[in-house]
Amino acid sequence: MIEAKEVALTYGDGTKALKNVNLTVQPGELVYITGHSGSGKTSLLKLLMGIEAPTAGKLTVLGQRMRKGNDRKLRKLRRKIGPVFQEFKLIERRTALENVMVGMRILGIPPRRMKQEAAEALKKVGLEHRLHTPVEHLSWGEAQRVAIARAVVRKPVLLIADEPTGNLDHDNALNILDILTSFRDEKTAVIITTHATHLIEGQAATYIRVKEGEITIERRGEA
Ligand SMILES: Nc1ncnc2c1ncn2[C@@H]1O[C@H](COP(=O)(O)OP(=O)(O)OP(=O)(O)O)[C@@H](O)[C@H]1O
Ligand SMILES: [Mg+2]
Repeated sequence: MIEAKEVALTYGDGTKALKNVNLTVQPGELVYITGHSGSGKTSLLKLLMGIEAPTAGKLTVLGQRMRKGNDRKLRKLRRKIGPVFQEFKLIERRTALENVMVGMRILGIPPRRMKQEAAEALKKVGLEHRLHTPVEHLSWGEAQRVAIARAVVRKPVLLIADEPTGNLDHDNALNILDILTSFRDEKTAVIITTHATHLIEGQAATYIRVKEGEITIERRGEA
């Protein structure tokens, strides 16, 4: 579902964020991306989501060639991707339920079903008791779970989370990773960047290490 061949990303100011990235990701794969701050992890996710376009090489995501100026096609593609961003982009004054429903509007689902499915998604992330709480009253970890519910409610085939464990203690970080990886199935790939390398060791997954814009890939077998 992802194929990158000699992909590079150089930002407008000349920063070479990614160099010579070769990568394939299959449906159902679990991918962890690690690396120091500034190494290029978020830049890689931005390429996969079409927020940035490669400045060299060839990148295909879900059959769509990613290049500049493909906006209409990219909007369609983004509906199949569930992003969980570092800054959640939640609407603070709206409830958890309302925030999850925001992402569903464009899908044209009838309102009652929308509400049901949003509540179900919040239940899956353990927030059934917070449906009607404004996001501004939630803890960081709870808000992170609302962001996950909002991403998965659209049943994406690619779930992408950027540093979802950021501000969390050990147990809560582990909980968030468990929730995210639980959405992986034979159709759905899950890609997560994290600094919490001690939490992800020893899993059957693809580990991508980013160092100064270059990646190394290690696939660890089914446990
Ligand atoms: N829009 C931009 N314009 C210019 N340079 C950028 C831009 N966005 C990121 N960079 C630079 O690209 C490099 C990679 O940044 P990126 O955000 O991908 O790192 P990261 O691995 O996600 O870091 P962190 O762990 O701190 O989130 C950094 O040197 C950063 O300063
Ligand atoms: Mg980042």
